[in-house]
Amino acid sequence: DMSDQEREFQDKIDADIKIEPRDWMPDDYRATLIRQMGQHAHSEIVGQLPEGNWITRAPTLERKAILLAKVQDEAGHGLYLYSAAETLGVTRDELTEMLLDGRMKYSSIFNYPTLNWADIGAVGWLVDGAAIMNQVPLQRTSYGPYSRAMIRICKEESFHQRQGYDAIRKMAEGTVAQKKMAQDALNRLWYPSLMMFGPSDKDSVHSAQSMAWKIKINTNDELRQKFVDQTVPQIEYLDLDLPDEGITWNAQRGHYDYTDPNWSEFFDVIKGNGPCNVDRLAARNKAWDDGAWVRDGLMANARKKAAAKMA
Ligand code: ACO
Repeated sequence: DMSDQEREFQDKIDADIKIEPRDWMPDDYRATLIRQMGQHAHSEIVGQLPEGNWITRAPTLERKAILLAKVQDEAGHGLYLYSAAETLGVTRDELTEMLLDGRMKYSSIFNYPTLNWADIGAVGWLVDGAAIMNQVPLQRTSYGPYSRAMIRICKEESFHQRQGYDAIRKMAEGTVAQKKMAQDALNRLWYPSLMMFGPSDKDSVHSAQSMAWKIKINTNDELRQKFVDQTVPQIEYLDLDLPDEGITWNAQRGHYDYTDPNWSEFFDVIKGNGPCNVDRLAARNKAWDDGAWVRDGLMANARKKAAAKMA
């Protein structure tokens, strides 16, 4: 039931040939990429909010400089991804407006608060750790501009993960009170981090088609398991308690067993009812409104220049 054009397209995908902006592509392939890349870009931008919140309160000048650099990197990732998405025929303004009025999503994780400095360490360690687990395979995604953007993003993201692990290690090896903060941050951010990979495979409506098109390389549960397997030994190295009593090594599977997140909480958060959804969208709307005069000024200047050229 595939047309010749669709058959040819799928053959290219199967042969690992990248799809480029001017190549023919099915409408749904384009729409799926716009959804995923746009959502990914929005996550980078909204993701600056929970960490930006702590730049002025970092415990040392060094930690402040590192956090500032990291938050700037996230802005860069967002702009990279918006540019890559624009090659599909949608503008950055359109994407932004869809974020601001709730038509598009951003990652569930950023609807949880960062309550103290230990949370900032845990965000780098767990949230960026989960983000890389998902993004490394996306370097091989079928759409050329997306895959190339991922290469640089992954390099920066691994620095972010290491700085987070370093910050949390310092707390875990610190005073009794500091170690307690590290444990509390781990306990609170564990399940929200597992949720970043998306719903369990049986509820993942997009996975089958996205994997056939190599927009996605792995299923949500595959990557979640990989993340658990990587992180449990790190928790043990830090001498912290496991955040889930269900975590046990399963020699038969060669993986850690673990307790699934509370999926009704996940679906509730992505519907807009998480602890920070309202604040996050209000902050982005305010930034957009406050920046209107800059956009208007740039457009007025561009029009003036164009008129002068015509005259
Ligand atoms: N947060 C918010 N929404 C989510 C999340 C999440 N963690 N996971 C899944 N969803 C949404 C999907 O967008 C989809 O809703 P929609 O149809 O309204 O768009 C629904 O839940 C069903 O999920 P899936 O069918 O599994 O969706 P999909 O195939 O898109 O998989 C995934 C989700 C794994 C997040 C995928 O989109 C992806 O790999 N995206 C790129 C990576 C990314 O966005 N990373 C941001 C992380 S944070 C950071 O990097 C700073």
